[in-house]
Amino acid sequence: QFNKRLYHEKVVDHYENPRNVGSLDKNDKYVGTGLVGAPACGDVMKLQIRVDETGKIVESRFKTFGCGSAIASSSYATELIKGKTLEQAGEIRNREIAEELKLPPVKLHCSMLAEDAIKAAIKDLEKKQKECK
Ligand code: FES
Ligand code: FES
Repeated sequence: QFNKRLYHEKVVDHYENPRNVGSLDKNDKYVGTGLVGAPACGDVMKLQIRVDETGKIVESRFKTFGCGSAIASSSYATELIKGKTLEQAGEIRNREIAEELKLPPVKLHCSMLAEDAIKAAIKDLEKKQKECK
């Protein structure tokens, strides 16, 4: 179970009031979907982005089946990438997420999941946009 006392209030806030939970249409050619898992714990994260015609991320949604830190990391990630270009979003590192949420060392892989999910979503979108011009 998620023991609140062990975590920074920002994690608890994102965990209790997650931002941008849900799904976007994965068949939409402006939507990229990243689905990643953490082998160590089995937690799974789906993160989606939607870009406009200029390639800027205008929307993001997530669904995370995992620990509180993974949920908080993905929730924060969806806020972080909004308004960024794909290139800027691809530069987001888990350190940035972990620092914002003050994650303890044992929970760093939870933020890594968010970084991986962002990258996977970008990759999916780029592949799709190449296929359907
Ligand atoms: Fe594995 Fe958090 S414990 S993602
Ligand atoms: Fe038709 Fe991509 S929108 S192939």
